[in-house]
Amino acid sequence: MRKIVWLAGALALVAAIVWIGTARGEGGAPAAEVEKKEFGFIGSQSCKACHNNPEKGAQFDQWAKSPHANAYNSLLTDESKKICADMKIAKAPHEAPECLRCHVTGWDAKAELLGAKYDRTEGVGCESCHGPAAEWKTPHIKDVPKAMTLGMIHPDEALCVSCHNPESPTYKEFKFEEAMKAVAHPNPKKAQ
Ligand code: HEC
Ligand code: HEC
Ligand code: HEC
Ligand code: HEC
Repeated sequence: MRKIVWLAGALALVAAIVWIGTARGEGGAPAAEVEKKEFGFIGSQSCKACHNNPEKGAQFDQWAKSPHANAYNSLLTDESKKICADMKIAKAPHEAPECLRCHVTGWDAKAELLGAKYDRTEGVGCESCHGPAAEWKTPHIKDVPKAMTLGMIHPDEALCVSCHNPESPTYKEFKFEEAMKAVAHPNPKKAQ
């Protein structure tokens, strides 16, 4: 009898794991899978015309005054030069892959994937969190699930932690809920 209860428990566990696995995939492919395909970057300016209405949360301005929009500029400071010198990185911080990979959107994308409005001085732009938008910009307005198959990403804690981790030379402990409050840009017209 005890053996049967144990077996049922184990089966329930396996079922739960499978269920969680499938549920996470809903609304598009997992971020890691989407990233493997190569989509073009169009720059944060390409979002401004539709996402800067104060009544709908002015996402562009919210982002522009957030630390993310300053992430490239931070690499131009004496502090950054000192960090590179201490780490024995020969290149200037704003040219060093060791720094660019977390401070700039699409920093290592092939030249043909960078649109006319792409600008690396935007730092961590919209597409760092929402995915390279060349192919999803048009469909996402009406059809988010389709946009998800075209490179749109649903940002979650794991995405934040891909940059907010101890590989950052200035790492501060990352608390998702708190950090999210500091950079949130919801649309107040939508029920959250
Ligand atoms: C031509 C207008 C237009 C442009 C350009 C545009 N969007 Fe949107 N976007 C919309 C509309 C309309 C919606 C749906 C209603 C809303 O949330 O305002 C939307 C919804 C969204 C959503 C919410 C999707 C969801 O899960 O429901 C995100 C995130 C988003 N846009 C990001 C972006 C980003 C990033 C860019 C630039 C790469 C961009 N949009 C460019 C019009 C636009
Ligand atoms: C592509 C890398 C990247 C991603 C993804 C990313 N960040 Fe950041 N974040 C940075 C960098 C770089 C800075 C520092 C910007 C500066 O001051 O130059 C920063 C700064 C911040 C800050 C202020 C500095 C601090 O830590 O005290 C907050 C808050 C923050 N990010 C929250 C988030 C949240 C929440 C997410 C996920 C929704 C996220 N970030 C995703 C790179 C990233
Ligand atoms: C793994 C991702 C990552 C890498 C690699 C990285 N950074 Fe950062 N950087 C961040 C994040 C996230 C922040 C926000 C604060 C924190 O948690 O470190 C940040 C903040 C900073 C700041 C602002 C510190 C402050 O709050 O005053 C400077 C300056 C900086 N980084 C310089 C550099 C330099 C120079 C390099 C290359 C040697 C580098 N970073 C590499 C992710 C990274
Ligand atoms: C640091 C990562 C990050 C950056 C950079 C970022 N976003 Fe977001 N964005 C998020 C997260 C996280 C959410 C909340 C997703 C959710 O609702 O679960 C979000 C939500 C949104 C929404 C939906 C708002 C709602 O309440 O329906 C829009 C629209 C949006 N972002 C547009 C933009 C635009 C435009 C930019 C650039 C100007 C941008 N975001 C930059 C992480 C980011």
